[in-house]
Amino acid sequence: MTRNYRIAAIPGDGIGVEVIDASLEVLTALSQRTNTFHLDVTRFDWGSDRYRRTGTFMPDDGVDQLRAFDAILFGAVGAPDVPDHVSLWGLRLAICQRLDQFANVRPTRILPGIKSPLSGVAKGDLDWVIVRENSEGEYSGQGGRSHRGQPHEVATEVSIFTRTGVTRIMRFAFELASSRPRKKLTVVTKSNAQRHGLVLWDEIAAEVAQEFPDVTWDKMLVDAMTVRMVLHPKSLDTVVATNLHADILSDLAAALAGSIGIAPTANLNPTGAAPSMFEPIHGSAFDIAGKGIANPIAAFWTSAMMLDHLGERDAAEALMHAIMRATDDPTLHTPDLGGMATTHQVTSAICAMLAEPT
Ligand code: IPM
Ligand code: MG
Repeated sequence: MTRNYRIAAIPGDGIGVEVIDASLEVLTALSQRTNTFHLDVTRFDWGSDRYRRTGTFMPDDGVDQLRAFDAILFGAVGAPDVPDHVSLWGLRLAICQRLDQFANVRPTRILPGIKSPLSGVAKGDLDWVIVRENSEGEYSGQGGRSHRGQPHEVATEVSIFTRTGVTRIMRFAFELASSRPRKKLTVVTKSNAQRHGLVLWDEIAAEVAQEFPDVTWDKMLVDAMTVRMVLHPKSLDTVVATNLHADILSDLAAALAGSIGIAPTANLNPTGAAPSMFEPIHGSAFDIAGKGIANPIAAFWTSAMMLDHLGERDAAEALMHAIMRATDDPTLHTPDLGGMATTHQVTSAICAMLAEPT
């Protein structure tokens, strides 16, 4: 029996379009190979072009249209002539918040053939999953500006931490840590300086930890965490942090694993009440857009996370396997990895691998 999934594809802006096109090619090759699932893809032209044309990034009922899908595959949003906070809140954050995709999951690994900038660190030494709180914290959108343009102009950006929000992300992180071989979780805060919201984090971490006696956990302040990531990468496994802290740590993690062109992410609504959204971390990268040299690996790994989430574990594994064969071949490295390969070359190579008999 062929399982059928409805996928909303939102390529968005810049290289988002190139890597999502490439991913759809690879996903088609994969579904032809396995014959066990079929993706029924609907493409949405939401993004900065639409904003310039109509004044909005997506239609008013856009988020509701997405509810009918099993998953969302997202490229990137952002363009040089549109302020970043406008594009972000117009599309990506609007979707994440309204579909309550509260768990952002960012795996980091050094894939075969990829060199970490850290000396003496090789494949296997760095295998992390960063869990980013994705619904509140510093990205709540609370605040305002008064006395615009005057010397005493004031702006507030209020972080919100709720017991519900912190408990659910903590539980998610402990569960994930418990499912991984090392069963280790590091809870990151800045609770020495941020003495309200992040002390609440510490308290809730200790409470939730009681439910997971199999997980060894520790606490780190975010500044010291950057040092530990660089100097003692092997000491880390699963990490949970606030929206902003994890945003910063995950860029560091991607760089330490060799390239931001590789890092994937999942915006999960773990309750299943609304679809989850999968996207490469890299963004629209207008400096290389249209040149055909974007690294599609992040979007492919993202697609593998989507398949895994849909329950297509074998397909996800087959795709990861092909991805690792590709990264292990320097002739398939795009310029971000110091190579000369094009998006198209990497994509066709992976499609060819997926067409090989098993
Ligand atoms: C990320 C990105 C975004 C974020 C930007 C584009 C606002 O950096 O997904 O990590 O901070 O959430
Ligand atoms: Mg970021």
